[in-house]
Amino acid sequence: MRAHPHYNPFNVREPAEYPDWTKVFARTEQPLDLEIGFSTGRWLIQYAKTFPERNIAGLEIRAKFIEHVRGKLTAENLANAYVLQANAATALRKLFAPQSLSRGIIMFPDPWYKPRHLKRRVINPKFLTELAECLVSGAELHIATDQQNLAEAMLADLATAPEYQNKYARYAPENFAGLMTDIELYNLKCGRKIYRLVFVRC
Ligand SMILES: C[S@@+](CC[C@H](N)C(=O)[O-])C[C@H]1O[C@@H](n2cnc3c(N)ncnc32)[C@H](O)[C@@H]1O
Repeated sequence: MRAHPHYNPFNVREPAEYPDWTKVFARTEQPLDLEIGFSTGRWLIQYAKTFPERNIAGLEIRAKFIEHVRGKLTAENLANAYVLQANAATALRKLFAPQSLSRGIIMFPDPWYKPRHLKRRVINPKFLTELAECLVSGAELHIATDQQNLAEAMLADLATAPEYQNKYARYAPENFAGLMTDIELYNLKCGRKIYRLVFVRC
C-alpha cells in the first residue's frame, strides 16, 4: 500500500469521478452523509453497518486507500457506502449539490497546526463556506482532533462562520456514534485527550 515516493496527493485537483448520487446507493431516498479523510475506512465501514438507514460517501485524497476500502465494502456487501479519490479542499461543490448532505464527519484531520501551515489545512474558512453550501439546514458537522491548538483554531474558524452554530458551549462531551477511527484508538491507547466539535448548519 505504499504510494509512489514522488506522488504528491495534494496535486489532486479534480475528483477521480463525478458519481451520480441518485444511482450509487441501493436506497437513494436515505439521507446522505459525508466523511472526509477516511484512510483505512475503519470508521466509515462501521458507520455504514451501524446506520443502514443512512448513506455515507467518503472522500480521500490518497489513491491507495480507495481500492482497499472498496474491497472491504464489497466483501461486507455494504450498499449504503461509496468512496472515491478527491481533494476535499477543491471538490465539494463539484461533487455535491447545494443542501444535499445531512451530516459531515472529519476525524483527526490536519496533522499541522502552525500558522504557516494554515494553507495546507483542510478545515479553513473557505472550506467551511463551501461545505456549508452542501449541508442541509440542521445537519451536524462532527470533527475530532487530539491537538489542542488545532481544536482551538477550528473552534475560532467555526465561531466566526455565520452558517454554523456550536451545539455545545465549547467541546462536545462524547463520541456521537460511539465508533473509533485508527487514530482515535491509538490516542485512547496513549491516554491522550480528544477534542470533539459538533456544529449545526443554521
Ligand atoms: C491524519 S489522517 C486521519 C485518518 C482517519 N480519519 C483517522 O482518524 O484514523 C487524515 C486523512 O485525511 C486525508 N486527507 C488529507 N487532506 C485531504 C483532503 N484535502 N481531501 C481528502 N482527504 C484528505 C489523508 O490522506 C488522511 O488519510
